[in-house]
Amino acid sequence: MTGIERSMAQYVKDRPQLKFIFFGGKGGVGKTVLAGVTAMWYAAQGRRTMLASTNPVHSLSGLLTQNVFGAATPVQGVPNLWAYEIDTKETIERSKVDIQQKIQYFLKFAEISTKADAFVESATMNPAFEESAMFENMIELMFKNEYDVYVFDTAPTANARRLLGMSKVYSLWVNKMLKSREEARSLRELLSFTKKKQTDPLMDYLVGFRDRMAHARELLTDENQTSFFFVTLPEALPIAVIKRFINWFHDFGIPVGGVLVNMLIQKDQVNASSPEFVRNRVAMQDAYMTQIWNDFDGNVRAVIPLFDNEVRGTESLGMVAKHVFA
Ligand SMILES: Nc1ncnc2c1ncn2[C@@H]1O[C@H](COP(=O)(O)OP(=O)(O)OP(=O)(O)O)[C@@H](O)[C@H]1O
Ligand SMILES: [Mg+2]
Repeated sequence: MTGIERSMAQYVKDRPQLKFIFFGGKGGVGKTVLAGVTAMWYAAQGRRTMLASTNPVHSLSGLLTQNVFGAATPVQGVPNLWAYEIDTKETIERSKVDIQQKIQYFLKFAEISTKADAFVESATMNPAFEESAMFENMIELMFKNEYDVYVFDTAPTANARRLLGMSKVYSLWVNKMLKSREEARSLRELLSFTKKKQTDPLMDYLVGFRDRMAHARELLTDENQTSFFFVTLPEALPIAVIKRFINWFHDFGIPVGGVLVNMLIQKDQVNASSPEFVRNRVAMQDAYMTQIWNDFDGNVRAVIPLFDNEVRGTESLGMVAKHVFA
């Protein structure tokens, strides 16, 4: 079917408990802009709204033309809206120290006399490490529960999927680990002269991690509270990217809110005397729009025109909002 069956405005009205909103899609398609627009819309409804970014490369300060790095910052001129670019580098440094301590503890526990450095190096050089740090930052903000609505600019999509997909298996694994560590510990206590109980930071960590992941999974798969929106352009690659994401998300039971199509050239601005370049692009977009209506049948929530200027500042966002929440 061609046309929007259920608009963005209708969708969010139908889900009054919606609390965690994410935007995914290929680079440069307008995720940050649409996260900003959505956060402003919620703030305008009188909801305390947090617009957050966990990416190492931030763009919220640029979007809002105001520095929001490192702390939850009230957005000037927009009541009920806070924005926050989380310092991922700092988190990574903190986790490195954390991991170092855990590995050292483990090596000591297992009576292995090797320096922890090599292990720490290999654990933290992993590219997934940065993504994990982003994920941890995100869920920490969610768990604190200080706002009514959270809009995240660019979800760590692959990591969310990986961690959530793993969390069931992980939980089984941790439970098994716990059991064997419990046995080892009681054996150790039995054999030691002092009968005092030892604390086990590694075990505490594993339990904490398992519980955090389980809770994250609970929130992120609750379709009353969570929605992932996918942004595309009427072009081949961005469409292919979100199709893949949507399939993954369906597999893991993460709720998909729908698709937003951005940067469609307005046909009423184009006629036979328009430059060939423009007419060709319109024809290309036309063909991909047919594909979009077909492939995302019933799930397109908004189609947003290509503006003759970049979107910057809250005023400019307000203009885009008219099309997103039409
Ligand atoms: N409908 C539109 N019309 C004109 N310009 C737009 C539109 N939507 C977004 N832009 C501009 O396109 C650029 C990319 O948008 P944005 O930064 O939101 O994309 P993104 O998906 O977040 O990119 P990244 O993957 O780099 O994070 C920005 O300069 C933005 O102002
Ligand atoms: Mg962005």
